[in-house]
Amino acid sequence: MTKTNNDQGPITTSLDKGVLRISIQRPEKLNALTLAMYDALTAAFEEAERDDYIRVILLHGTDNCFTSGNDLRDFATQPPQGENSPVFRFLKAVSQAKKPLIAMVSGPAVGIGTTLLLHCDLVYTDETARFQLPFVNLGLCPEAASSYLLPKLVGHLHASELLLLGETINAEKAAELGLVNRVFPHVDLLKQVLAKAEQLAAQPPGSVRLTKSLLKEGQARQVAEVMSREGELFLQQLAKPEAQEAISAFIQGRKADFSQFS
Ligand code: COA
Repeated sequence: MTKTNNDQGPITTSLDKGVLRISIQRPEKLNALTLAMYDALTAAFEEAERDDYIRVILLHGTDNCFTSGNDLRDFATQPPQGENSPVFRFLKAVSQAKKPLIAMVSGPAVGIGTTLLLHCDLVYTDETARFQLPFVNLGLCPEAASSYLLPKLVGHLHASELLLLGETINAEKAAELGLVNRVFPHVDLLKQVLAKAEQLAAQPPGSVRLTKSLLKEGQARQVAEVMSREGELFLQQLAKPEAQEAISAFIQGRKADFSQFS
């Protein structure tokens, strides 16, 4: 069965051979995520949980971009208000997904574009991928339980480097750190990832779900607690002058100046 649903604007879904493809399609803004896009993504994840035919979720962006993260203009004009905000509902859906989640990353994966990978079961990429966690650069703080999951995955020093300096790393470095499973050549990426997704969809589904849940259950409570605490602090930071300077600088196309802050 193949089903395509293009009703949701920049978020499209299609279903084939038990694999639900969720695609982020706003290339003119490097797939920056708006409130409506988070809502559409969450709806797609909820549908994946409900539909017995869906065995694997595959999340990807456009040919040259995964996502440049939260839309920074949205942060300025309609910032998230609390735990029920679209971005937090989406992160909850990703972190609590019962079905296996694969991410396929080409080009920039910024902010939530990288933190959501920490909740995926398999991450495949190509040589064009670039990962960045610029929360501090933006006067913000980590989200999606990344302050807990990232040091666990890559060690404290690498996590500090990624989070405090907010520098961009390439696919090779991401593979070395264990952030991604494999780096495929760009021309082959989709074919290779679909083959992996279909391989996983052909596995016994009950056993796949049980194994995923066993892999995650030891840290599930901690992840939920850290995510909630980070969310609270993130919103506080967003309202502060440091973040306002950083976001205004991005919108105005200039370098941010933090020299006035103590
Ligand atoms: N929010 C809103 N718009 C964004 C965006 C974002 N997160 N990321 C990119 N865009 C927009 C740019 O404003 C630009 O729009 P314009 O053509 O109307 O001016 C367009 O997408 C292309 O981006 P540009 O910056 O010109 O591309 P680049 O290749 O030079 O740089 C990035 C790519 C990802 C390094 C850069 O866009 C960037 O740093 N974006 C912000 C990432 C970010 O901080 N995300 C939030 C994390 S919490």
